Amino acid sequence: MCGIVGYAGPAPASDRPLNVVLAGLSRLEYRGYDSAGVAVASASGLAVCKRSGRLTNLTAALEADPLAPGISAMGHTRWATHGAPSDVNAHPHLSADGRVAVIHNGIIENFLELKAQLAARGITQRSDTDTEVVAQLLGVELADGTAATLTEAMLHVVARLQGSFTLVALDGQDPATVVAARRNSPLVVGLGNGENFLGSDVSAFVGETDRALEVGQDTVVVMTATNVKLLDFAGNPAQGREYTITWDAKAAAKDGYATFMDKEIHEEPHAVEETLRGRLVDGHLALDEMRMDPALFRSVDKIIVIAAGTASYAGQVARYAIEHWCRIPVEVELASEFRYRDPVVSEKTLMLAISQSGETMDTLQAMRHAHEQGAKVLCICNTYGSSIARESDAVLYTHAGPEIAVASTKAFVAQIAAAYLLGLYLAEVRGNKYPEEVAGYLEELSRMPGRIEKVLEQEESIRALARTMKDKTSFLFLGRHVGFPVALEGALKLKEVAYVHAEGFAAGELKHGPIALVEPGLPVFFIVPTPRRPELHNKVISNVQEVRARGARTIVIAEEGDNAVTDYAEHVFRVPLGTPTLMMPMVTVVPLQIFASEMAAQKGYDVDHPRNLAKSVTVE
Ligand code: F6R
Repeated sequence: MCGIVGYAGPAPASDRPLNVVLAGLSRLEYRGYDSAGVAVASASGLAVCKRSGRLTNLTAALEADPLAPGISAMGHTRWATHGAPSDVNAHPHLSADGRVAVIHNGIIENFLELKAQLAARGITQRSDTDTEVVAQLLGVELADGTAATLTEAMLHVVARLQGSFTLVALDGQDPATVVAARRNSPLVVGLGNGENFLGSDVSAFVGETDRALEVGQDTVVVMTATNVKLLDFAGNPAQGREYTITWDAKAAAKDGYATFMDKEIHEEPHAVEETLRGRLVDGHLALDEMRMDPALFRSVDKIIVIAAGTASYAGQVARYAIEHWCRIPVEVELASEFRYRDPVVSEKTLMLAISQSGETMDTLQAMRHAHEQGAKVLCICNTYGSSIARESDAVLYTHAGPEIAVASTKAFVAQIAAAYLLGLYLAEVRGNKYPEEVAGYLEELSRMPGRIEKVLEQEESIRALARTMKDKTSFLFLGRHVGFPVALEGALKLKEVAYVHAEGFAAGELKHGPIALVEPGLPVFFIVPTPRRPELHNKVISNVQEVRARGARTIVIAEEGDNAVTDYAEHVFRVPLGTPTLMMPMVTVVPLQIFASEMAAQKGYDVDHPRNLAKSVTVE
């Protein structure tokens, strides 16, 4: 939620600070797109421009009325929490005297109390945001001499704030210095050559440098063109951890595709390949980065997966495999619900957090709760150095590359691949599977990228079907066994990008209620299990017939050669013959993702930026 970019460069002033910040904002727009704004600092003070709506509104305003060159700059793209998306509520916010500008990601929970304290000093707010109080407080500190520098003011002010925040501030009287602070919201530093960068994540400055510095919890960053200093909130020196950014600028560009969502769907084979890469050594599992004692894995008596949205559906898929391979009970829990039900967690519970962004606040808080109960937390995460990765006891990275479209696609298949690696690793260390059995599964996993490619070959016919259904207002998705979470994911994708009512159900539940929704013309998607599992297959085929008999339009995802479906299916999309049942979700989800993307495009919606959503949900 909310994207943040900061830049400190050398004198003399130039257009580079603003250009770097605008390019960063365009790559971060997936984090929020209710409004955008920039501030540039130069020897003549601060210049600010901000506009409600998409980034293009801001760039048009800047073209019409350019800002003076600067030495440092910062930019913000907003996902509104406090205050409607308007010009006045857009960041940056200024202190009463206009000397200090602030951008913010997170929520200042005690802002009403701080606002009242400011009002008592005669300082009133211009906006409805929680952020403005920070700008005002910093301004007061400098104006009345309580603080001599912006850094000192920031240290004083963060001590008064409750909630979560990444703050970046500029002082018009010290244009060479950018000061930032973080608590419970993301911030990463990019180390350049004679210039330095700040961002909510590395996409803010990808292509500018490949050196990044992880910033710990409760840290203030003081950045100039040639120096980056970290302090804890008490003002003592703090350490960051430097790492190399492996994402390149091309990974954050559309590369000829109409949308990032389309590009990312096409990247799925690669995402799975990269997630498996280096982990299969001579047919055996090498999960060196896990760094957890194998004895701990042997002592585990329960796994609880915590995740949100699409990541939670990847967790539901993983449950079938891990329980089957390892004979450990697996619970899958929505992170936002986990700590409110007084969960039974012990030191024998392994928590598995799944998150693409590594910043989802619900997941982070659930992890923290589990840690407090003595559980170990392992995470599957796509974002290096993110909060969830840093706070986990061990990390299994999905190497899917940056996922920019708000709707998650390639991360889902990569999360399943990573969860399967974990399941097989557990099965091996716990002695549930012989190494040669594990090797057999790994061999099948390594065939999945090629199988996804085969499904992608049907893209045009899937899109053609979506074009015929663009006016449909309701859809059902039904699946059994691992097809059930895929049905949920298919419905979620359609809801979020095409704004169509869609419901996913376990196919067996149909008769317990949802069948009442079926009427002539209703499109119903079925994820049909392989005929090699007749106990699953036959039941879903019966469900297809039941729905067809009531006049619904049946769209079936089935294995090549499965002819039992053809009599009852209006449309069939095929997944490759021989795909193991547990790996089916990595291929059956693909047509559903393409369908959702095309439906959204047909309806004229912004596929990559669905309304009201943000990519990384850093509020609870
Ligand atoms: C759906 C979607 C969301 C995320 C969820 C978790 O397309 O993107 O449901 O899956 O917000 O996000 P991460 O994986 O970043 O924790």
